[in-house]
Amino acid sequence: MARSDPHSCADLDQGMVEHIDFDLDVSFDRREVAGSVSLRLREPAGGPLDLDTRNLRIGDCRGENGAEIPFALGDPDPILGSTLRLDLPPGTRRIEIDFRTTEGSTALDWLAPEQTAGGRLPYLYTQCQPHHARSVFPCQDTPRVRYTFSARITVPEGFTAVMAAAAAGDEPAGGGRRVFRFEMPQPVPSYLTAFAIGEIAGKDVSDRVRIYAEPAVLDRAVWEFAGVDRMIRVAEGLFGPYEWERYDMLVMPFSFPYGGMENPRLTFLTPTLLAGDRSLVNVVAHELAHSWTGNLVTNASMEDFWINEGFTVWAERRILEALEGSEYAALHAAIGRIALDEAFERFGADSPYTRLKTPLAGVDPDEVYSEVPYEKGFLFVTLLERTVGRERWDAVIRRYMDRFRFTSITSEDLLAFLEEELPGLADSVDARRWVYEPGLPENAPAFASPRLERVRWLVKAWQEGSRPGPEDVSGWAAEEWQLFLKWLPREIAEEDCRLLDERFSLTASGNYEILVAWLTLAVRSGYRPVLERVRQVLTTVGRQKYLRPLYQALLARPELRPLAEEIFAAMRTKYHTLSRVAIEGLFEKTRK
Ligand code: BES
Ligand code: ZN
Repeated sequence: MARSDPHSCADLDQGMVEHIDFDLDVSFDRREVAGSVSLRLREPAGGPLDLDTRNLRIGDCRGENGAEIPFALGDPDPILGSTLRLDLPPGTRRIEIDFRTTEGSTALDWLAPEQTAGGRLPYLYTQCQPHHARSVFPCQDTPRVRYTFSARITVPEGFTAVMAAAAAGDEPAGGGRRVFRFEMPQPVPSYLTAFAIGEIAGKDVSDRVRIYAEPAVLDRAVWEFAGVDRMIRVAEGLFGPYEWERYDMLVMPFSFPYGGMENPRLTFLTPTLLAGDRSLVNVVAHELAHSWTGNLVTNASMEDFWINEGFTVWAERRILEALEGSEYAALHAAIGRIALDEAFERFGADSPYTRLKTPLAGVDPDEVYSEVPYEKGFLFVTLLERTVGRERWDAVIRRYMDRFRFTSITSEDLLAFLEEELPGLADSVDARRWVYEPGLPENAPAFASPRLERVRWLVKAWQEGSRPGPEDVSGWAAEEWQLFLKWLPREIAEEDCRLLDERFSLTASGNYEILVAWLTLAVRSGYRPVLERVRQVLTTVGRQKYLRPLYQALLARPELRPLAEEIFAAMRTKYHTLSRVAIEGLFEKTRK
């Protein structure tokens, strides 16, 4: 089989890791995680074993009886990192490796106290998807490999460690330190390994859901996410039993670069979801849905990322539909369609990155991250569902979960499964075109609903010169506002900006989706009264989804470029590396 994942050096013929014991010690003074991993292989192996690493310092490697294992660390590749090649004596099943992380650990975000809500203690969290786990510990960093694990994480007394695993207790470790223990009984791929350390408190909202957050935001978080247990029950009704026992959530500090990350048993969430009105819980529905689509049935590599995200967006919207009705779900589909069209614009509709199966050899998956796998994937799954009818499709989805649970699959595996289950379906919808060709096929499903039509109508009226009044928008959910703002022309007159803001207080919105859609439009329109609020957002929020359009809008206006430069100069070391690199790219692209 040799190497099956373009983003990993792992050769599964050499052996496969099936269990890891982590022993990690976290130093905030040195900004370093030091310790060991003990890897157990499925079967005894001998000869070379290649592991992924990035910017790690490797100490000793030991085999079964403590005997040293010779190793060599290859030259670093900018995307893959360095191959750690071990030379195993025959019959080796257990390998212990000592290592330390460095400043170049791309999965680690070290925060100073002032970057936290409490402002008292520093904070550390991981973001391993897609190929960053290797910068925290040596591993076969491909989702083809799954392992169970145990972990000991030692931290300074006063800090709390949480992990995407079952908590197994904590006790003093001597010398002013405390050790937190965890067990992960379900096998997971490396990208789902996650922990966070800081001033963290927890509160139960049901017998299987606890919210973790900094004490300063915990109560708000508990209120915002109080409905999650109900969501889990709905999801179980749709996709089968929840396999991970607990569903806890961790509200992150502001620098967290994503909306959410589906770390098993412990979803990570951006604090921008705390809108105070539960209007952004679709992100929780999404991360929860990954408990089936993604964490149970996993993409084999980032080339098949849509197997994770396309199915999950579909599942997210099925949950939303069950909870809020199909009209509400249709609003989300329409918002998704706007994002998809923007992605096509960014890449060009012929780009290979608009295929569902994307060729990624030599490509950094973070650089081509886009809405395509999400929204084109969603449309494709919805097309399949609509073509066979919901009842049959739901039964097929249950069998899909059953067949592939705790495994990793490719687009080809999926197509073969469909052919077995529903012969002829794939051909009848031109599935190969959807999966292997760029752009959006004409048979993409469309969404209609009175609520959608109403927003469309108001946008049309706008173009004909009429402006909405309070009665036009009464009863609008956040989604209608997003659609309205995104469907308006890319630039509008300054007096229209003023009118919208005076009538609807958009600059004061506590819903970041509305706020950022509004600020982006206002900045593109050169409406200066929003600039202070833009500065405030760009200096507090780290979610790339919000940073990118705002910087892009500023950079598109020569007179606002200095403001973008000034803010970025102050923030570059505070943003997550991923966000920093993405924004540097925007500056680069727009440099005259
Ligand atoms: N797994 C993703 C986040 C991710 C993707 C991290 C690729 C690193 C690499 C997560 O499930 C996700 O899709 N988050 C979205 C939520 C949205 C689609 C509701 C986000 O962060 O915007
Ligand atoms: Zn996702």
